[in-house]
Amino acid sequence: MASSLVSTSPRAPAFPRTSLPASASSPAGGRWIDHWLDSLREIEALRAAHPMMDAVIEEVDGRMIRVGDRWLADFASCNYLGFDLEPEIIAAVPAFLEQWGTHPSWSRLLGSPVLYERIEERLTELLGCEDSLVLPTITHIHNSVIPVLAASGTIFLDARAHKTIYDGCQIARSRGAAVRRFRFEDPDHLDALLAAERDRARLVCMDGVNSMTGNAPDLRAFAAVARRHGALLYVDDAHGFGVIGERAPEEPCPYGVRGNSVVRHFGESYDDIILVGGFSKAYSSLLAFIACPTEVKNLLKVAAPPYLYSGPSPVASLATVLAGFDVNERRGEQLRGVLHRHSARVLRALAELDVHTPNCSELPIIEIPLRDHERIDEVGRLLFERGVYVTLAAYPLVPKAEVGFRVQLTAANTDAEVDLLVGVLRELAELGELQSAAATRALEAA
Ligand SMILES: Cc1ncc(COP(=O)(O)O)c(C=O)c1O
Repeated sequence: MASSLVSTSPRAPAFPRTSLPASASSPAGGRWIDHWLDSLREIEALRAAHPMMDAVIEEVDGRMIRVGDRWLADFASCNYLGFDLEPEIIAAVPAFLEQWGTHPSWSRLLGSPVLYERIEERLTELLGCEDSLVLPTITHIHNSVIPVLAASGTIFLDARAHKTIYDGCQIARSRGAAVRRFRFEDPDHLDALLAAERDRARLVCMDGVNSMTGNAPDLRAFAAVARRHGALLYVDDAHGFGVIGERAPEEPCPYGVRGNSVVRHFGESYDDIILVGGFSKAYSSLLAFIACPTEVKNLLKVAAPPYLYSGPSPVASLATVLAGFDVNERRGEQLRGVLHRHSARVLRALAELDVHTPNCSELPIIEIPLRDHERIDEVGRLLFERGVYVTLAAYPLVPKAEVGFRVQLTAANTDAEVDLLVGVLRELAELGELQSAAATRALEAA
């Protein structure tokens, strides 16, 4: 394997020694910041020196972005439906600004513009749930709602759940909940833990479509286990909402239709399931939701701090959600068709090249681990130099065996951009930088 794939600029020193005031010393005498710099050494070195980390994007043109003097095809965007660039949605915003100003400023309990009511009505209809509540972000929701739902009971946490779910569970623990972890994608392990648990107050927290593997969990199996043991199932489908949805006889692609998320995709009811999702990915807006019974919604209005204490989403975001519902209704299936076509094409190319990816769903999140985790810097530079912008997945954010990069497709990517991506993936495969799919399968079978 080539030791240097591309021209590399000299690395910036990993940890420039800024002088910290004496008060920055820890009680043990060292500087408090050294603990963090040590434990995050690899990711910080990458952040400080890599053109694809902490990059400043100076201009966009469709799904092309400019970083410094280089134009790159963007495969790190979560705007799956391309609503960020959708002329009809952009055109809808000024009328809302004229009527409401730029920012309502009230927290929702103090004054809730009727736009929220309209959003919740349309969302509830789309999801087919009893009711829904919107708050600015999923992070707000996890941090405030998980502690309320868990109270002093026991949380069963998916071991590979998103960091923001972990954080919500940490807060719940600090308020008296216990937390047990079950193995990723393993309903039998969850079943065993629930069967052994004496605490009757149980909450199961997990992801819907996983933000790294790009696969949906077997929601039917998890829902059945949770219900059998009297647990409430809390699912974060940040990446599924807008992309996957209910199944239909005439569906244009395997994502299903309407983009109404993982619960409907699996034909599940909302009985004992709380669905959380966001508009900040497929809908390109700053807003998030909880699908729940009205009784729970009313409780959260007084028990979940962001409803009273956090600032609201900007009016432009409320406007783009409402306009996004219209576009989803009229053209969503066509956009999901394009998204699926791009995703399937990249996955086909990886299969032909014998390159491993955990994605077996054809959803638009494609993680590509490296053969050698220490090559992340060089591989990232090659991608950058070839004009391909991706999300680097570095240690310790992911285990060493999964260090690599994540590609995300959107309906706004062009065929030419996908051609470019496939060409660079071929180059990396030929250089021996990527893991072999056949070897991974053999290892898993052994
Ligand atoms: C699975 C998942 N949950 C939650 C979040 C955070 O969402 P928000 O930005 O709405 O807080 C993300 C963001 O990347 C995510 O991938």
